[in-house]
Amino acid sequence: MKIKKGIPIYDQHDKNGFYGGKFGGNFVAEGTLKPIQDLTKLFAKLRKDKKFLAKKEQLFKSYLGGETPFFKLKNLTKYLGGAQIWCKDVSSLKGSAHKGYHATINALICKMSGRKYLCGDTGAGMFGKNLAMAGKHLGLKVKIFMGTKDIARQSVNVKFMRDAGAEIVPVDSGSKTLVDAVSECMRYYVSNCETTHLAVGSAIGANIFSKICVYSTSQISIELKKQLIQQFGKIPKLKLINVIGGGSSALGFWNEFIDYDKKHVELIGVEAKYAAPLATNAKLSILHGAAQYCLTNKDGQISPTHSLSAGLDYPGSSPMHGFLKDAKRARFTFASDKEALQAFKLVTKLEAIRPSLEPCHAFAECIKIAPKLKKDQIIIVNNCGEASKDKKIFLKELGYYPS
Ligand SMILES: Cc1ncc(COP(=O)(O)O)c(C=O)c1O
Repeated sequence: MKIKKGIPIYDQHDKNGFYGGKFGGNFVAEGTLKPIQDLTKLFAKLRKDKKFLAKKEQLFKSYLGGETPFFKLKNLTKYLGGAQIWCKDVSSLKGSAHKGYHATINALICKMSGRKYLCGDTGAGMFGKNLAMAGKHLGLKVKIFMGTKDIARQSVNVKFMRDAGAEIVPVDSGSKTLVDAVSECMRYYVSNCETTHLAVGSAIGANIFSKICVYSTSQISIELKKQLIQQFGKIPKLKLINVIGGGSSALGFWNEFIDYDKKHVELIGVEAKYAAPLATNAKLSILHGAAQYCLTNKDGQISPTHSLSAGLDYPGSSPMHGFLKDAKRARFTFASDKEALQAFKLVTKLEAIRPSLEPCHAFAECIKIAPKLKKDQIIIVNNCGEASKDKKIFLKELGYYPS
């Protein structure tokens, strides 16, 4: 399986929406084929539309807050005594996570398609929060599907969404987590696609949904590339570490670096230990409209997952990650709940950043590998979410939350 040079990862699919002829596609109910085709045409047009591009730039800059910081974690570097550790602090965005990018772009597409209603799924509540905010900003009515287990464990974001005027639809079926929320949201869309735009919370779903998502989150690597040139005068030897749930932050963090040789820019994806289809060589399966590596049981049914982190508690993975895995361009591993919690403790004691549970998994991998590497090696961790939504969990599990 080969990656084409000079083409963004989200555009590397064939005419049927498959990456590497194998991942993705459009496995959707008959009634949604036409709206999906219409959305595909609309998005292709909007990407070249000056008005859309100007509005995108304006929203990213003045509404989401513009370029996110990139800086060295000097204390962590010194403490671990190996590679230099740097941070792309995406958590500093207005909505405190990378989900701001695709929530905002989806709200803009909804508006430009003449629709007033926006629906989406959420696990950790970061996408829901950002969708509620973007909907409010652009005058749209927002409906968010969320598992009841996640509603209970991410109550800070639930309150935020409700205060922002969004309706939360509790999903009490199956595991009561993200996988069920996505299914319910897609079901709702099937019967309401004439009036409602579907915003999928990660780089998953039928081809166009994952494409819109990664087109939006790629802002992270567009900025990072410029920041690296400013800082080092070139693209130095890098290891880019990112957590993976569905895969939207990692793909956005990596997109501009896909063409580099893996010895020059290594891409490392970190899943949650018991929700790790990529790292554990799970089978190819179909979930939420796309072929992907997915945790299944011996009968081929979707397996339950576990993670303390609601944003990672998902059995599937983006088709684009399946493609990167088979092309051997990215390396996938996992971190346990305990490792993520310990990473939170160490990072917040040493540095003035507050990673949520999700990016703590990326920090856990960084903590494992940095001491074994030379001092001229640069590791960059995408701190893609801010911790306050997880305060209750950190206090319960660690008895610690920094002031
Ligand atoms: C802060 C944060 N990081 C990471 C994730 C995982 O999702 P993805 O892999 O799509 O970035 C989530 C999901 O909710 C999240 O809220």
